[in-house]
Amino acid sequence: MDKKFYVTTPIYYINDKPHIGSTYTTVAADILARSHRLRGDKTFFLTGTDENSQKSVEAAEKSGKELRVYLDEMAKIWENTWKELGLSFDDFIRTSEERHYKAVKRFWQAVEKSGDIYKDKYERHYCVGCEDFKTDSELNEDDRCPLHPNKDLELVQEENYFFKASAYKDEILQLFHNQKDFVQPPKRLNEIRSYVKNAFNDFSISRESKKVSAGIPVPGDDSQRIYVWFDALINYMSAVGYGTDDELFKKWWPANLHLVGKDIIKFHCALWPAMIMSAAKNDPLLQNEDGTPKLPEQIFAHGFFTVEGQKMSKSLGNAIDPLELAKEYPFDVIRYFFFREIQFGNDGDFNRSRIAERYQTDLANTLGNLLNRAINMSRKYFDGKVPEINSYLTQVEFLACFNMDGTNFIGEDSLTTLWQQIDEYYNTSRIDLALELIWNGTELSAWSLNGLNKFIEEVKPFKLIKENELQTAQVLYCVLEACRHVAWMIEPVMPEISKQIIYSLGQDPKSEISQNNFQNLKKWGGLEPGSDLPEPKILFPRLGE
Ligand code: MSP
Repeated sequence: MDKKFYVTTPIYYINDKPHIGSTYTTVAADILARSHRLRGDKTFFLTGTDENSQKSVEAAEKSGKELRVYLDEMAKIWENTWKELGLSFDDFIRTSEERHYKAVKRFWQAVEKSGDIYKDKYERHYCVGCEDFKTDSELNEDDRCPLHPNKDLELVQEENYFFKASAYKDEILQLFHNQKDFVQPPKRLNEIRSYVKNAFNDFSISRESKKVSAGIPVPGDDSQRIYVWFDALINYMSAVGYGTDDELFKKWWPANLHLVGKDIIKFHCALWPAMIMSAAKNDPLLQNEDGTPKLPEQIFAHGFFTVEGQKMSKSLGNAIDPLELAKEYPFDVIRYFFFREIQFGNDGDFNRSRIAERYQTDLANTLGNLLNRAINMSRKYFDGKVPEINSYLTQVEFLACFNMDGTNFIGEDSLTTLWQQIDEYYNTSRIDLALELIWNGTELSAWSLNGLNKFIEEVKPFKLIKENELQTAQVLYCVLEACRHVAWMIEPVMPEISKQIIYSLGQDPKSEISQNNFQNLKKWGGLEPGSDLPEPKILFPRLGE
């Protein structure tokens, strides 16, 4: 059966342009979507904008534009930014769309039918920055929101609708217990488990329309608007047909992976499953065959960026525009930096001198140079072609030629193991570990870019050619073929560079993908001996050239 992979990013608030924080999440989703597409999975990658919030209203007022005009303009900016960066999303959902309104209505009514919505009066502090209520214990010593100390808290005294989230506390803890990878990485699971145990209370899920002009009206009660988070989370369903196209919904739901930043795990790992558990009781579309709720498979929370060591913020003026950044470096380089420099799941620093260093060392010197040398020598010694290896030596014979043991051999056996590991890393969102392995290898195998460079240094094909042409052919063929594999291994992270490598090996990446499935691609020997090698282009030119 075909596997499917449905991955989402958070939908972003559009009171400002995208910055590298939101870019980071969207690129991560793009990499995972590409890796699944390459592996032949039916893939759906969703991103979009969260528009029914007070922030939008305030930003529109500030810009002097009518709300609708402002939202349309900003949503276009976000969508176009992702397009210009080459991100391969399949749909872009806006919560101001009709299809979303329909989904929210259906969802609300299912929850209401389950008896989980009630009205209550309360008085609490609201932070527009977080679009969330704050308890006293969540405030800093100045009684302000620690995440948005410059924003005044709003004292809300209202009668609103509440969602009985607390009724699902045990079921959620059970879910965490049964499905250990529901929240990743594990440290986030610990964090959220203790939140659910100690502080998972009922949520206010509406505001009075006369006080809050943003938001979807509560079905059957125009005097109240649905709280932005209750509305926003449903985007993951509305984009795949909930409330508008049952067949489409059955095809894609549940989501396989919600990618989020660590700031919003409370909503995704606790509120969202509780909402689905409740709605599923009265909506068969949300039930598995055994009647259990169809929950997302996994939520992966990544860490936060600082910029040159400082928190990224408007007041510091250090939020980096991804389109500006893409003028400084090819965007593939930034993609590589994001996932090579920072362990996916941990916090990290966006640092220009580190980008420059990685560009020079990992990309230009290690990857670019290897490919260039191998292509240039092959062209020079073998008439502009991939060397012919008429009598293909076995691994043992080949090793014997160079007095090597299995650990530093670049060949078929170690390759299969390597691919298995790479596939596993992409499947578990450990993009950083995949790159580490491709560049550095493991103790057991020198099959890596550094290993390949060392191999050339040791074997010295530029001297060997004077003594033994057959062996030189074998060596260079191995390195070229290894580069072909590297190109496919890095394809999800660096799609453009990957294409260029394949072209420079005289192949067409498109025809290779369509003619052979991924299993074939991963086999040793895909490079045709005797085929033409075009003159190499420099993959990573000196910056500024
Ligand atoms: N609209 C809500 C999400 C609703 S999802 C149903 C929201 N939007 S947001 O615009 O504030 O985006 C938050 C997300 O942006 C974070 O979860 C994270 O993915 C990303 N980031 C924002 N700043 C970031 C950094 N400094 N570093 C890394 N990612 C950051 O919350």
